[in-house]
Amino acid sequence: MSRPVVAFTRQYFPDTAAPLADRADLRLSPADEALDAAGILRHVAGCGAAVATTGCPFNASVIDQLPELRLIANVGVGYNNIDVVAATRRGIMVTNTPDVLTESTADMAWALLLAAGRRIGDSERWLRDGQWNRWAIDLWLGADLHGTTLGIVGMGRIGRAIARRAKGFGMNVIYHNRRALPPGEDEGARWADKAELLSTADHVILVVPYSADTHHIIGAAELAAMKPTAVLVNIGRGGLVDDVALAQALQSGQIASAGLDVFENEPRIHPDLLAAPNAVLTPHIGSATFRTRRAMCDLAVANVTDWLDGKPPRTLVNKDVLPA
Ligand code: DGY
Repeated sequence: MSRPVVAFTRQYFPDTAAPLADRADLRLSPADEALDAAGILRHVAGCGAAVATTGCPFNASVIDQLPELRLIANVGVGYNNIDVVAATRRGIMVTNTPDVLTESTADMAWALLLAAGRRIGDSERWLRDGQWNRWAIDLWLGADLHGTTLGIVGMGRIGRAIARRAKGFGMNVIYHNRRALPPGEDEGARWADKAELLSTADHVILVVPYSADTHHIIGAAELAAMKPTAVLVNIGRGGLVDDVALAQALQSGQIASAGLDVFENEPRIHPDLLAAPNAVLTPHIGSATFRTRRAMCDLAVANVTDWLDGKPPRTLVNKDVLPA
């Protein structure tokens, strides 16, 4: 019987694929390039499993043209690069890498909140530029975080980890989710509707998955509803925020600053965001610690191993794909 073939659509760590080498033929990525649909079709054709990642578009058309495919193991908790409905229809299992990145991503949300609130980015650029020649009482004044109200949009695992950290800063936390969480799971935070959250919170963090329902949940109207002293952090996905509206709000002072790890058309960044001194911009590195990125790869490979063993993968997203 021929061995299963597993494609890796990107280069991961050099030994990421090693646990599979005895069990499957591996089709490694020759270069670490983000594959478009045509590239995926070329690279994954004939494979039973593909290890993929954000920005790797397994849309319905791609999925329909890969009849041998049985598993897409995404390296990432988000999987909006995959049409899960189309995959399920075709009997393809989709897995992600939850939990292992929760704490690192929550740390990064705080890094962005602190950096944007306390003007770390623009004051550092100014210092490196040789412009600091005296101390002054009003030098680079920023926002307080302690004692203020934090609004979290999306109170899943990462949202709750962000809320836990807020306690150490003496912050009052409100959150918006489709539904309020049961007491005991809400980290002491209070549910608020979106309008109340935006107008009440001193600072807002977005950590909700991207979908058609969450496209541009922050646009011009929402930015206008926020406090002019507010910091907005997006650690979720590009597309949650209308980047053009945000650039205008930052430019006009409608909100004070933003910390952004994800962008609508990343890795292309809207020039008006690049030009906004009051935005701290990072290249989608929310989970990028040595330990966490390894753990994400290991979990994706463990899902492939489960499939090779004929077991349901441990972090299966589309459980309805399994026989009843
Ligand atoms: C995730 O885990 O979804 C990160 O954004 C990496 O893609």
